[in-house]
Amino acid sequence: MVNSRLAVDQLVAAVVGRRRESELVVAALVADRHVLLEGPPGTGKSTLLRGVASALGVEFEFVEGTAELTPSRLIGHFDPALVLAEGYSSDIFVDGPLVRALRQGSLLYVEEINRVPEETLNALVTVMSEREVHVPRLGRVVAENGFRLVAAMNPFDAVGTARIAGAVYDRVCRVVMDYQSEEDERAIVAVQQSGASVKLQSAAVEIARATRSHPDLRAGSSVRGAIDLCMVSQELGEIRSLASDDDGVTLDAALVALSGRVRVREGASRSAEEIVEELWQSVFHQPDSHEADPSAGKATSPTAASRAT
Ligand SMILES: Nc1ncnc2c1ncn2[C@@H]1O[C@H](COP(=O)(O)OP(=O)(O)O)[C@@H](O)[C@H]1O
Ligand SMILES: [Mg+2]
Repeated sequence: MVNSRLAVDQLVAAVVGRRRESELVVAALVADRHVLLEGPPGTGKSTLLRGVASALGVEFEFVEGTAELTPSRLIGHFDPALVLAEGYSSDIFVDGPLVRALRQGSLLYVEEINRVPEETLNALVTVMSEREVHVPRLGRVVAENGFRLVAAMNPFDAVGTARIAGAVYDRVCRVVMDYQSEEDERAIVAVQQSGASVKLQSAAVEIARATRSHPDLRAGSSVRGAIDLCMVSQELGEIRSLASDDDGVTLDAALVALSGRVRVREGASRSAEEIVEELWQSVFHQPDSHEADPSAGKATSPTAASRAT
């Protein structure tokens, strides 16, 4: 039997922050429950799950939830050519991720479960409560010990979020993954972007966070935007023979890294580019904000300040 405390310690060492979420996910999985990780993109759902699987020493099957995920893609199918030659027999059945997870007693990780078509979702709901799936001409596939479903979804995703509510929510333990703290985001950027200066890393985190509370934006950028901003600044500086924190470089890098990630509210009079530029002004372009005192920038930036409280 796994030692769940040890698993949490191992997990916390592998991901940045997230102690409470790590404890909750490990507790639910060790208790043999199914888990729903709910949070916006980039909040570390996949990272946490990968860490959990390795800390618990279990395999996981990964499935991307899309409109194309038909029941036969999830469950498996008979090889059509072999069916013609040999007829239906269990050894020509090609296991899909669900059947593999059931047979191995592993985790089935479904990303973006709210995008999965109705019919496929029904198959998942059934397997969550029955712990088996019935496949025509193959028969029953019963879950080995250890089979659990971990689903992830973005609660703000317009695609079918409401639809999954009842049946799925009633069968899972739900762990909310909100945006990371500023400190954790800095640590995440530092791990992935150790080449960028600390000042650039902090500013990148600050502007990404500011997109989340801008009144004209209904969705902001995750930490991925901050990571990209640092990466692009370094390369762009190189190309232009300028420092990676040159104004022109960071502004262009911010536009590239953030303008596609934010969603402008209906009826807002400005474009994503204009809003990113405004935020760049307030975060990157304040004399002596980042050099002297890292918190000084926030005091004069209404968006960052309102987020920080
Ligand atoms: N807690 C964390 N520890 C380490 N890296 C993280 C953490 N949260 C997010 N990341 C990094 O941020 C990016 C997005 O994380 P990911 O797990 O893919 O998010 P999600 O699955 O919620 O969209 C990845 O590059 C990942 O490495
Ligand atoms: Mg993910």
